[in-house]
Amino acid sequence: MKTFYLETFGCQMNVHDSEKVAGVLAARGYTQVDCPEQADLILYNTCSIREKAEQKVYSRLQQFRRHSDGKLVAVLGCVAQQEGERIFERAPQVALVCGSACYWRLPELLERLEGGERRLAALEQNTDETFEPRLARRQSPYRAYLTIIEGCDKQCTFCVVPFTRGRERSRSSQNILREARALVAAGYTEIQLLGQNVSSYRDPSPAGWDFPTLLAEVAAIPGLKRLRFTTSHPKDFDRRIVTCIEENPVLANHVHLPVQSGSDRVLQRMRRQYTREQYLEKVAWIKGARRAIAISTDIIVGFPGETEEDFQQTLSLLDEVGYDAVFSFKYSARPHTAALKLDGHLPEQEKGRRLAILQERQRAIQLRRNGEWIGRTVEVLVESFNSATGQWVGRTSENRVVNFHAPGEQSSSLAGRYVQVHISRAGPNSLAGELAGL
Ligand code: SAH
Ligand code: F3S
Repeated sequence: MKTFYLETFGCQMNVHDSEKVAGVLAARGYTQVDCPEQADLILYNTCSIREKAEQKVYSRLQQFRRHSDGKLVAVLGCVAQQEGERIFERAPQVALVCGSACYWRLPELLERLEGGERRLAALEQNTDETFEPRLARRQSPYRAYLTIIEGCDKQCTFCVVPFTRGRERSRSSQNILREARALVAAGYTEIQLLGQNVSSYRDPSPAGWDFPTLLAEVAAIPGLKRLRFTTSHPKDFDRRIVTCIEENPVLANHVHLPVQSGSDRVLQRMRRQYTREQYLEKVAWIKGARRAIAISTDIIVGFPGETEEDFQQTLSLLDEVGYDAVFSFKYSARPHTAALKLDGHLPEQEKGRRLAILQERQRAIQLRRNGEWIGRTVEVLVESFNSATGQWVGRTSENRVVNFHAPGEQSSSLAGRYVQVHISRAGPNSLAGELAGL
């Protein structure tokens, strides 16, 4: 019996890609194991969005060098795409380097490696092939990721994704609907549509659907309880998405709308293709919806040339929008990107100072936003039981984490069920309460 160990770094797309890879391996008779020591095949699905993420990959390869005798080691994902065959020089134990646009070739590549070929690199991006999603082995039995578009055609000056994931390729709407229906039939009640920029989805089939149409069609599948999507680029964020949420209770009360900066000058240097005002107009659509919709964002601090004044504008944007969640990062210089050549690169220490200030500010905002939920009863999709705290953990439609006690329910599993929880406490990152109804 052949075994594999698969470790995933990075975003939801990587998590889902790993589910697809695990599916292919299972179909080839491999069994998944929890530690690399026990595995015949070790795979790292890598992230290169920031330098730290990339370093992690090399330190992993270093760490497990000694376990690699007689084992196949594979580097997948964004570092694979970015570094290509250079990985073989830095880490000679690696047998396979494979970018995400080539995962559909994995069965063939594995066969060749099993047949004795020493080293293979699969890095082409000029393919229309989409990975056969039927085989994906999803981690959760009730929440499923579903890819609708790969790659990114935007050229934000800080971002390596267009280089690592290639041009935009949308899957056909029939294909997506078929997978979504199969997921619901298999018992999944929550689906999250995935893409670097879902709002620029363009159905390649004659139906020619755009994203809001696709969203409404998936939402109409009987039996689906929650539909999420990520990520929408603000420039392509269509007002019809808000209408679609208003009209379909199945769509979750949440939009992730990455802003990156509150300063027009920085937004322009980032080539984000919107101004603060245009961004705020889209936020106003969301806030004006007939039901309350949570808004989250991504922010980069310390972009080259960001002045104290620019940074203050980002802080004031936090106050103005009142985000429910913010993912914030220090700018990290990435290979191939246009921002490398901009002047005004800031010292690490200054980036760190700004990040700490921003996170402190947002923490207070979240504490206040979350406090507004105290006393209310909310629907929670239960994910797991935390035996350390004796509490169940789940998420609201707004994507807020809720920890709750359910006396008398310890023996019967609540995982995967939608329950009512009375909220009695709020922290900056989660809510807490008690089971109020099944
Ligand atoms: N497609 C997504 C972005 C994917 S990358 C979108 O349009 O929003 C996820 C986040 O990582 C980005 O939103 C950005 O905030 C952050 N990020 C990307 N490149 C970065 C870099 N070079 N340094 C720091 N953060 C970065
Ligand atoms: Fe990156 Fe901008 Fe695309 S952040 S993923 S280039 S939208």
